[in-house]
Amino acid sequence: MSLKKTWGALAPALLLSGLCIGQALAAPERSGKDVVDSVCSGCHATGKDGAPRIGDTEAWGKRAAVGLDKLTENAISGVRKMPAHGGQASLTDLEMSRAISYMISGGHSVDPKKAFASPQRISGKELVEKRCQECHGAGKQGAPRIGNMDDWNPRLQKGLDALAKSAVQGHKGMPARAGMAHLSDKELKTALEYMVNQTTNAAQKKVSEANEQR
Ligand code: HEC
Ligand code: HEC
Repeated sequence: MSLKKTWGALAPALLLSGLCIGQALAAPERSGKDVVDSVCSGCHATGKDGAPRIGDTEAWGKRAAVGLDKLTENAISGVRKMPAHGGQASLTDLEMSRAISYMISGGHSVDPKKAFASPQRISGKELVEKRCQECHGAGKQGAPRIGNMDDWNPRLQKGLDALAKSAVQGHKGMPARAGMAHLSDKELKTALEYMVNQTTNAAQKKVSEANEQR
């Protein structure tokens, strides 16, 4: 496929993604321009280490031939000298998508409302065992303990989405993305769901045991 053609095929997808409707509330996430100016331009303005330059449609067209979703996955997980999430773990996958859209188009895209990709390469259970357990098992630094409803209850009042956001962006002693910048929003959310499920199950077990003893 010629480069011009690649860009031609890409442009409508970028424009459309920005127009995707159905969400009444404006997402609180940062704009593509904001993210690029503050984070990505450090390398992508000058082309440091071979980073494709902002607005270089030829360089981006070649890369985007694999598809925007795959390109975004690579930027989320990191690829060669491109650090995971641009080296800033607290950026959401949506903010990454907006930044990519902005850089590919040289600032002409409309910010997408939905992330191009949020890969799931590890299950919630595996991730909890591999990482979250370390602090959320015994309650290190005040982390809400898995299986302890009293710890989780006040936090659950905020709603699961808000808690998932805390896991992405960090919250007091909780490091952004649990300190693993290559994790996606989806992976963190399923790990959170697993911890909450384990906790609800433990609470239900306690209730039925109490009932049996009566
Ligand atoms: C420390 C330097 C650095 C920063 C900061 C950085 N990048 Fe990159 N980026 C690179 C380099 C180098 C490459 C080329 C990697 C390669 O293909 O060898 C790259 C490649 C990419 C690619 C193409 C990946 C592919 O599969 O070809 C995307 C998308 C990308 N960056 C997005 C971003 C976004 C979005 C940000 C800001 C949130 C960002 N980058 C911040 C250095 C950086
Ligand atoms: C290095 C220790 C550490 C690791 C690893 C860790 N957490 Fe935490 N986490 C904490 C601490 C400490 C808190 C309590 C922070 C506070 O007071 O809100 C917390 C709180 C949270 C909260 C509640 C935030 C809120 O808004 O109330 C969520 C959700 C969470 N962690 C998810 C996760 C997930 C998911 C993982 C694994 C992918 C993980 N954590 C791994 C230390 C950790």
